[in-house]
Amino acid sequence: MANDPEKEAAARASLRFVKHGNVVGLGTGSTAAHAVRLLGEKVKAGLKITAVPTSYQTKELAESLGIPLTTLDELARDEAKQIDVDIDGCDEFDLHLNLIKGGGGALLREKIVASASRKFVVIADSSKQVPVLGKFPLPVEVIPFARALLAKEIAKLGATVRLRQYAYGNPFVTDEGHHILDCHFGEIPDPPLLSRTLSDMPGVVEHGLFINLATVVLVGKNGNVEELRRERIDAGL
Ligand code: A5P
Repeated sequence: MANDPEKEAAARASLRFVKHGNVVGLGTGSTAAHAVRLLGEKVKAGLKITAVPTSYQTKELAESLGIPLTTLDELARDEAKQIDVDIDGCDEFDLHLNLIKGGGGALLREKIVASASRKFVVIADSSKQVPVLGKFPLPVEVIPFARALLAKEIAKLGATVRLRQYAYGNPFVTDEGHHILDCHFGEIPDPPLLSRTLSDMPGVVEHGLFINLATVVLVGKNGNVEELRRERIDAGL
């Protein structure tokens, strides 16, 4: 079960990756919201950053806290500028620090921001750690036109597929105007392979498998925060 004090502890630990003058990616979801609130406190106390939010929800929160915002368009105009660090939550992470994201529906912007960042710091409570990804239904963002066809094709890969809907029955609409298919695979034995397979399907805009993107995962566990680093894991350390 998700644990809020663990989420907050992980969020607090992520702040040391943020330096004065940095451009910071702001993730989406309840864990990322802790980080945004804590960053807001630091900004009030004098920390100078600009931030790129990964959803309207996070944009509103950051604005309410007085965090100065920028956009990918603005950053692209300045050769010298890049997102220094992106801080975001996840729905699952495995021992290779591959992730499932998108439970909050923001996976497309989240993946763009994570991919464009020098460092991607993932924050999580201990319930998110799994030996094999796939217990959490994999969100796949699709264009509405291809929705039914893609649901059928993805089911052929072995998933139980559900269109994400609001409580009143209409399809959930992402910040970019797409729909989400929640695809329950049970276990995903080869996440990079599934990632490529889904990306190759016309009409799939993006999916929630984040492969080889996380620099570090900070996990709140029993009052501590564990730090898992990919380069150390890959080197067998
Ligand atoms: C948002 O689209 C997601 O990727 C979130 O990062 C993920 O669902 C984790 O959310 P919580 O921090 O609320 O568990």
